[in-house]
Amino acid sequence: MSTSLHELTGAAERHADPMPLNGIDHIELWVGNAAQSAYYFTHVFGFEEVAYAGLETGLRERASHVLEQGRVRLVVTGALSSDSPVAEHHRRHGDGVKVIALSVPDAAAAYRHAVEAGARGLGEPRTLSEDAGSVVVADIAAYGDTIHRFVERGDYAGAFLPGYDAVGGAHPRAHAGEGMLVGIDHVVGNVELGRMQEWVGYYERVFGMRELIHFSDEAISTEYSALMSKVVADGHGRIKFPINEPAEGRRKSQIDEYLEFYEGPGAQHIALATRDIVATVEELTRRGVRFLRTPDAYYEEVPDRVGEIAESLEDLRRLGILVDRDDEGYLLQIFTKPLGDRPTIFFEIIERHGARGFGAGNFKALFEAIEREQAARGNL
Ligand code: FE2
Repeated sequence: MSTSLHELTGAAERHADPMPLNGIDHIELWVGNAAQSAYYFTHVFGFEEVAYAGLETGLRERASHVLEQGRVRLVVTGALSSDSPVAEHHRRHGDGVKVIALSVPDAAAAYRHAVEAGARGLGEPRTLSEDAGSVVVADIAAYGDTIHRFVERGDYAGAFLPGYDAVGGAHPRAHAGEGMLVGIDHVVGNVELGRMQEWVGYYERVFGMRELIHFSDEAISTEYSALMSKVVADGHGRIKFPINEPAEGRRKSQIDEYLEFYEGPGAQHIALATRDIVATVEELTRRGVRFLRTPDAYYEEVPDRVGEIAESLEDLRRLGILVDRDDEGYLLQIFTKPLGDRPTIFFEIIERHGARGFGAGNFKALFEAIEREQAARGNL
C-alpha cells in the first residue's frame, strides 16, 4: 500500500506511537584497520574525529574512532586481537556496517516493544555512565549480522558514549571539506532472493515503519541487470531504509555480487546528503574518491527525461552526476566505487530538490546508456 509522508505524519500525531524514533544516531562500520579508515574518512571525505576508544581508554579487544560531519556520525571499529568479534566479523564480511543505531527517547521501551513484535534481542537495555552523564543502549538483530542499537541519550553531555575520550586534533578536518556532507539520507540493505518482503514486514512490525512506493519502479531491470527494491520509512521521514533483493536477469545482478562477496545480507550503501553536489563531487574527486563512471550517452536523454534543472548539464556530465525526477521535484546523485577491497559497501552522495524518491528512474536510464555504449562497441 502506498502512503505519502504527509499521511504518515498525520497518522503519527493521531495515535500514540509505540516506537518513537528521533533519527539515525550513528552508523558503526567494523573494518580491517580502523586507524587507516579514520584517516581516509577524515582527510578524504571531510569528517572530523571527535571521540576515540581503544587501549588508551582501557579497551583490550577493539579500537573505535568516532567521526562527524554535519549531522552524520560514523564510527569505525577495528579488532585488537584475533579472538575479538570484530576480527571474526571482518574475516567473514570484510569492511562493512555492523550497527545502524537509532536515537530513541526510551531505549528500554523500544527494546521491549521490538522483542514483543518479533525482533531477536541481542543485548538487553544497559546503562553506560560517566561524569558527563548516562546513556542507555539495547541491541536487536537486523538482516544478516547487522544489528540495530537503540540509543537513549537523555541529557548526556559527553563526546559520544561513556568510555570514549573526546578527541581534538588527531585527525583534524581538512579545510576545504567544510560542510560537504550534511546528513544521512538513507541506508540500503541487500537481502537474499525472495526475502525482501519479509524484511519490509520486520520494519513495519518492529518499528512501525511504512512502505513508501510513491516512486514508481519497484522492479529496476534491463535485459542484463535486475533488482527489486522497496523502501520503508518512519512516520517523520527521518529514517529511510530501502531493501533490495536480487531479481532474475540474464547475468548476475549487482545484488547477487554483493551477497556473494559480503557472504550474506548486509548494508549496501549509505546515502549522504549534500546541499551542493557539484562542488562536493568536484572536491571529493580532487581528493581521490573514485565514483562510478557515467557514459556520455546517459546525458543525451537527460533534458527530455527530467526537464529544467538549476545545475549545468555540462557540470553533471563532467563529474558523472545522475539526475532523476519524480512528481515532487528532482534529485541529483552519484555512487562511489566500493570503499574497501570487496565489491560490497559504498557511499552515495545525494542532493534533493523536492524529489522524495531514490533515483529509480536513473538506474534504468544508466543501465540502458551503458548497454548502448556496449552495443556501439559490438559487445552486446
Ligand atoms: Fe540510494
